[in-house]
Amino acid sequence: MKADKSVDVEHLVFVDEPLETHEPRVHAAWLPPEAFRSLGARRVLVHGEGLLVDTVLDEVSRACARYGGRVWHSPSWDVDVDLVLALRDAGELPNPAVEAARSAGEAALAEIGRGEPLGEEGFLLAREGEVTVVLADAPAGLLYGLFHVVRLCAAAFDPARPPERHRPALRRRMLNHWDNVAVHPVMGQVERGYAGGSIFWRDGRPRGDLARVRAYGRLLAASGVNAISVNNVNVARTEALLLTDRLGDVAEIADALRPYGIRVHLSVSFAAPVLLGGLSTADPLDEAVRDWWAATTRRVYDRIPDFGGYLVKADSEGQPGPFTYGRDHADGANLLAEALAPHGGVVHWRAFVYNHHQDWRDRSTDRARAAYDHFTPLDGRFRANVVLQVKYGPVDFQTREPVSPVLAAMPATRLALELQVTQEYTGQQRHICHLGPWWGEVLRFAPWGPGGRTIADVAVGEAGAGGGLVAVANTGDDPFWTGHPLAQANLYTFGRLAWDPWRDPTEILGEWMTLTFPPSATADPELVRRTLHEIMDDSWRTYERYTAPLGVGFMVHPGDHYGPDVDGYEYSRWGTYHFADRDGVGVDRSRASGTGFAGQYPPYWAQVYESPRTCPDEVLLFFHHVPYSHVLHSGSTVIQHIYDTHFAGVEEVETMRRRWQTLNGMIDPAVYERVSERLDEQVRCATEWRDQINTYFFRKSGVPDARGRRIY
Ligand code: GCU
Repeated sequence: MKADKSVDVEHLVFVDEPLETHEPRVHAAWLPPEAFRSLGARRVLVHGEGLLVDTVLDEVSRACARYGGRVWHSPSWDVDVDLVLALRDAGELPNPAVEAARSAGEAALAEIGRGEPLGEEGFLLAREGEVTVVLADAPAGLLYGLFHVVRLCAAAFDPARPPERHRPALRRRMLNHWDNVAVHPVMGQVERGYAGGSIFWRDGRPRGDLARVRAYGRLLAASGVNAISVNNVNVARTEALLLTDRLGDVAEIADALRPYGIRVHLSVSFAAPVLLGGLSTADPLDEAVRDWWAATTRRVYDRIPDFGGYLVKADSEGQPGPFTYGRDHADGANLLAEALAPHGGVVHWRAFVYNHHQDWRDRSTDRARAAYDHFTPLDGRFRANVVLQVKYGPVDFQTREPVSPVLAAMPATRLALELQVTQEYTGQQRHICHLGPWWGEVLRFAPWGPGGRTIADVAVGEAGAGGGLVAVANTGDDPFWTGHPLAQANLYTFGRLAWDPWRDPTEILGEWMTLTFPPSATADPELVRRTLHEIMDDSWRTYERYTAPLGVGFMVHPGDHYGPDVDGYEYSRWGTYHFADRDGVGVDRSRASGTGFAGQYPPYWAQVYESPRTCPDEVLLFFHHVPYSHVLHSGSTVIQHIYDTHFAGVEEVETMRRRWQTLNGMIDPAVYERVSERLDEQVRCATEWRDQINTYFFRKSGVPDARGRRIY
């Protein structure tokens, strides 16, 4: 839309409205029209130019068309307004009230912003007289400011509201899609996907619903995410072609997401020069290989000028990598970084490297040690545009693990924390498991000891130069986006934590509830909210209670990782063992008598984890092999703790289901039904976990339950 042209809602024609007409079946998640009621009933002036300013205008116009407000774009005449959304460098308007609000905003900014710029994505919100003003340096900031106004609802127009300045703590807030282009014979369309097919791909081709992709971008922007990789980290032949012959398919996605400020990244194969370029080697030190990456990357940027960069899983679970050529991971990552640097791109290089052909008889190899052993010697060798992407735990996205020691051991490397929103090990979006509190614990963990810098500080880095937050996405083409409607909260929470990793995840959950179940459209909003909190707040701990105990991990069904199978991985090559015998259980990772993993932490935690006497209960079996009679800090023995938590976990899930039933008739029936079905499955599966774990340990140990409950 051009400057000086007013947009009068009465004359707006809406085409291609993905959430209202194009795909009426798709759930609106945290952006239902009702969430825009407060904004849409107001008189809004948008001032500035740019693609994302057009997005703001479009959003406001739709809201106003629905709720009776009005919107103007940089009008050349005076209008009465309630809300101004303006770029700071947009010219003066012949509108005294608007200019007064802008000046007040500038004054507030000088005061609370200490003269620092708002940056590419920051914004200020202030009140002047009857007007709320949102100022931004750049269009993306205006879009984030708009979504902030939506979240605040009427509070954005409270005359007493003090000015606020918001800037994301993390520059890159990224989702990794493990989506395959061609259906994988074992992993399917989306690896570890529990929400139907891919939003992007179907049976080897683009899915072709760009309105859905755009709607997805809109949801992500409203949560704070600003980057996504669009294909699986395990790159097979068809997916490798996205870098070259099928780049057009990626460009289409980038075009659909650009209006919402989301940059596209690509998972690439380290062997691409051989697979796609016809070279005889992918050796990172080979001149022809370097030239191939430089030329290929140039073509990517010719087609997608704001392309984000590459994501690489190398020498990991069968993916090719620099080890083939006797090179290390710094050589490998720097090769791609060099090709991306002239264009401002970045390589996300994953630290998930370990021996996946371990002999279970070999007690000296410890998978938990692997990332540290491979990567810490390389600290300081990575180019500035390499981000080393580190899973939160040393093993693999478990319900409970200690925080990866790599995150505290590479001060000269940009480190990103990798979370898993897709619930591979946490109930696969059939179980309610709100992961916010778990991520909050990880982010607040202080690896150098209490009171010191935290994992959030590491991800932010010095002067914001850290690697940021990344998560494996949980979305698909399911009508609810995430399979389980309540799993939407995990995606939302990830985005908000990536914007501000110090926020309280339960407060974020409340924000998600208000948007998703707007009070103005809910029969008894207080009851709905209270019930949802009762069900969700502690659901990750409930999940922990009925699954693998005390941080020992796994015990899941091999392959699909769903449901219990205590010894499923015990004699396998994957390095995830619990070593239960008749006397005790757990992995000795101490320095004194075990694998030495505990010694990978800075001194404070190395000492705490070293001894079962000081090791926190929740990770005891990750670090120690202890007798069943070992007394925990909680006062219970290990065996009694196993019984008690497993009985309690199932009771909690039954209570969740009863509470959910009280919402019948109060919320969208489709949401109600979907969650009800899944709660039935959660009760069934939790019961199976309880009975298999309790029976297994009863049979191993011969110790009866002190409370005489039924064990098989
Ligand atoms: C887990 C998961 C795999 C995935 C891998 C990874 O092991 O089960 O499906 O490929 O993590 O993070 O690369």
